[in-house]
Amino acid sequence: MTQEPRSQVLAGLEGVVAATSTICFIDGKEGRLLYRGYDIADLAEKATFEEVCYLLWYGELPTGSQLQALREQLNASRALPEEILTLLRLFPKEAAPMDILRTAVSALGVIDPQASENSAEANLNKAIRLTAQIPAIIAAFDRIRRGEEPIPPKEELAHAANFLYMLKGKESDPLSARAFDVALILHADHELNASTFSGRVTASTLSDMHSAVTSAIGTLKGPLHGGANEQVMKMLLEIATPERTEAYVMGMLAQKRRIPGFGHRVYRTEDPRAKFLRRLSRDLGEQAGELKWWEITRKVEEIAFREKGLYPNVDLYSASTYFYMGIPMDLFTPIFAISRISGWTAHILEQYADNRLIRPLSEYVGPTRREFIPLEQR
Ligand code: ACO
Repeated sequence: MTQEPRSQVLAGLEGVVAATSTICFIDGKEGRLLYRGYDIADLAEKATFEEVCYLLWYGELPTGSQLQALREQLNASRALPEEILTLLRLFPKEAAPMDILRTAVSALGVIDPQASENSAEANLNKAIRLTAQIPAIIAAFDRIRRGEEPIPPKEELAHAANFLYMLKGKESDPLSARAFDVALILHADHELNASTFSGRVTASTLSDMHSAVTSAIGTLKGPLHGGANEQVMKMLLEIATPERTEAYVMGMLAQKRRIPGFGHRVYRTEDPRAKFLRRLSRDLGEQAGELKWWEITRKVEEIAFREKGLYPNVDLYSASTYFYMGIPMDLFTPIFAISRISGWTAHILEQYADNRLIRPLSEYVGPTRREFIPLEQR
């Protein structure tokens, strides 16, 4: 059996352009990130997460009345269906919240009021519902595992503040609420990252939105992707004091271990989101009167650049940002999903609107033709 090589294999699909999209632009050399043409810096400084959701789904920033209508739709979907609360109570308390989220989103697909509809309108409704429900799932599970009752959302609170309220049972301070809102804006979309791509692959079979989002959540979980923010915090806690940072990081590099929160497939300079998170982490550290976690992170950053020319990615400073807010470490990656659901669903809607099945090839490198040996002769 002979076979011509099909084409050059690009490991990890590096450099492959797999879709056209009007949602997100990344300039990896200059470190720029745009959503629908708007610079992330402007959005982080001047917009709210709800405005960014609208922008990602509809392509335009909302007017006041459009934003109000979206807020009302989100409010209407925040309270979790009883079936989901029952499910959350059935899970083991020690289960990983990311696994809970993946399973609960899949379950929502069974009971969604438009479960069997795949029209553009139904899918937009599902996108809004999922964006409202994901934070409610995470907050409810965290309370249930601590032996507390889930807290219903407050209509007057914005999306970010509502999550912190449902998690902690009291309204958060203004700095934490705004920091969380900015973190959600910064994580909302990132072109064809691994989880968005897997969501689009699932959507490209014309499977339903909940299935596509479930695929995306499973992909986000990995430590090379969204799971890195939790790994960063574990590293900071192990380092424990700024003085120990040098020896710790040099030891990691000597063992050829990856430093979580560094490196990126697309950026060849600093991730533009890191700048904002560095500042948020510092502000929250100052408010908490405990700058240690920010200082250790800063030192890790200096050493990683000095030794390997590595730049931080979005996960480096999001870790201490969430830690300063008193959020449990194993919720850091689920929090990524609270934000990225907006980008995932925008991409899934875009995929449905102009669909072609995503189905690449592999280069076969296994054994050539072999004679079949019947079972009794093996
Ligand atoms: N620590 C140490 N070395 C690194 C790191 C790191 N974090 N990242 C890349 N490198 C080195 C690699 O060892 C490799 O060096 P070599 O050529 O001498 O072997 C080189 O940089 C290129 O690395 P690749 O793995 O080929 O880069 P790739 O584009 O495949 O991987 C990835 C990108 C997975 C993000 C990688 O940088 C990494 O593992 N980072 C740590 C995990 C992390 O922070 N993930 C979050 C990414 S952002 C996000 O998903 C939200």
